[in-house]
Amino acid sequence: MSADLVSRARAAMRNAHCPYSRFHVGAAIEATDGKLYAGCNVESASYGVTICAERMAVGAMVAGGGKGIRRIVVTTEVDPPAAPCGACRQLLAEFGLDFDVLAVGPGSERRWTLRQLLPDAFTGEALER
Ligand code: THU
Repeated sequence: MSADLVSRARAAMRNAHCPYSRFHVGAAIEATDGKLYAGCNVESASYGVTICAERMAVGAMVAGGGKGIRRIVVTTEVDPPAAPCGACRQLLAEFGLDFDVLAVGPGSERRWTLRQLLPDAFTGEALER
């Protein structure tokens, strides 16, 4: 199953729109509905408008009706494989902190839980009163 997720992330990575950085990123989510949702980074000439692969995959999941994340794979073309940026960690935290995040490069992998990547996370619980 990891192999499927890695293939989906790599397929999306090949479609990345990254003419400015030339840094291709792919992401694939296995959702709690069992479906797979993929995304890639989409850059803008107005650099700050760029959206990361992980957040595009979250958008694909939500638009497709997925409600929760079982795990996410992020692929890059570097070793050690790049970890998700802080903004992506924060958005992923909408869907829990205890799922695995697997980063995959051409020749190596790294694995964490989202909780390890985002300790003392700010979540919706803080807004409950
Ligand atoms: N990028 C991602 O897609 N995900 C991350 O977690 C970090 C960075 C993208 C954004 C930009 O298109 C390129 O990588 C270089 O920062």
